[in-house]
Amino acid sequence: MFEDLIKILYKKSTIFFMNRLIFIVLFCFSLFAAEPIAPIPVSLDSIDLPKAKLGRMLFLDPSLSSDKTVSCHDCHNFEFGGADPRDVSIGVQGRKGGIQSPTVYNARFNFKQFWNGRATNLEEQASGPLTAHVEMNMTPEKVETELNANTLYQEEFKKIYGVEYITMDNVINAIVEFEKALITPNSRFDRYLRGEIRLNEEEAEGYEKFKRLGCITCHNGINIGSNAFQKMGLFKDYPYDEKYQDRFAITKQESHKNVFKVPTLRNITLTAPYFHDTNATTLEDAITKMAFYNLGITLTIKDRDLIIAFLKSLEGERPVILDMP
Ligand code: HEC
Ligand code: HEC
Repeated sequence: MFEDLIKILYKKSTIFFMNRLIFIVLFCFSLFAAEPIAPIPVSLDSIDLPKAKLGRMLFLDPSLSSDKTVSCHDCHNFEFGGADPRDVSIGVQGRKGGIQSPTVYNARFNFKQFWNGRATNLEEQASGPLTAHVEMNMTPEKVETELNANTLYQEEFKKIYGVEYITMDNVINAIVEFEKALITPNSRFDRYLRGEIRLNEEEAEGYEKFKRLGCITCHNGINIGSNAFQKMGLFKDYPYDEKYQDRFAITKQESHKNVFKVPTLRNITLTAPYFHDTNATTLEDAITKMAFYNLGITLTIKDRDLIIAFLKSLEGERPVILDMP
């Protein structure tokens, strides 16, 4: 266990930089922490189902975009783990997005939303894509006009929200209720955490590697990530391109360049391509690059494949809200 730590300590004299020092401290903590990953709750009891189903309708509806061609689902596809299999998302009029589209599954457990965390919660996030020029390019007024002219929506909102006039707040509320229901419980790993099954040999070994090599330092908690910001390229400099909105775009601190929200690793087998800039097309590639840039190690093929076996065990069930009548 300590061999790896010593290796990391000797890796570079630049270890004295704060970032890396903090990493070492966190790493030591995570080695001795109790179980560093928590399972996803199974029940939808806290969800208002009629609102969530209305939100599902809105999520799938391209009429919420300026040229009526783009829905939330186009860039957060249920068949691809709630993410976008394309290199860049395409918004209205074929406008290309500036950064990879992350998954909406389990987003309710993210500590902040967006790659650089500029939205503190799902409510704050939801108006972003509706009004973004490269995404759906609407205004709240246009959304309201569109929906109030639609008798089906009028009836549904009246029934569920008791309103005669649909407001943007109602719309966001329904979409967010749907997003809260987008959880993927009962992965093999969660069932293992709850003591229901044992991991097979490869999964168990992969989990050990994931912890011992230090992946767990950044990818932990209920979403195995999404609970902290970290630098891409902590041990080996990663190419910087200002077109990607990182923490620096918000704080203007030099040390925040290439700092992003650590992505979730739940359902990661389904959400290729990887990284904010889609610089990894396969999971093999992503893991090897992660080990290189963020741990300063060259991963063996055997270790890489063991880690993949573990990551596969994080594939959860398709959210039940998607198939409810
Ligand atoms: C044109 C493609 C596109 C459309 C349409 C779109 N999104 Fe996104 N979505 C993205 C991209 C790209 C990001 C990441 C942007 C960033 O972090 O700067 C994102 C981020 C998110 C996130 C944050 C996830 C995280 O881990 O931080 C949520 C939640 C989300 N979108 C929900 C929605 C909802 C709800 C809609 C419809 C109202 C929608 N999106 C429409 C591309 C899209
Ligand atoms: C120092 C913190 C840190 C460590 C250590 C770390 N990661 Fe990451 N991981 C990140 C960050 C930050 C990103 C986002 C990078 C980007 O998009 O530029 C990321 C992204 C990823 C992705 C791609 C996720 C996606 O949706 O695009 C995978 C897969 C991944 N990490 C796996 C691993 C594995 C496996 C290890 C151990 C070998 C590891 N990480 C170690 C911080 C870390």
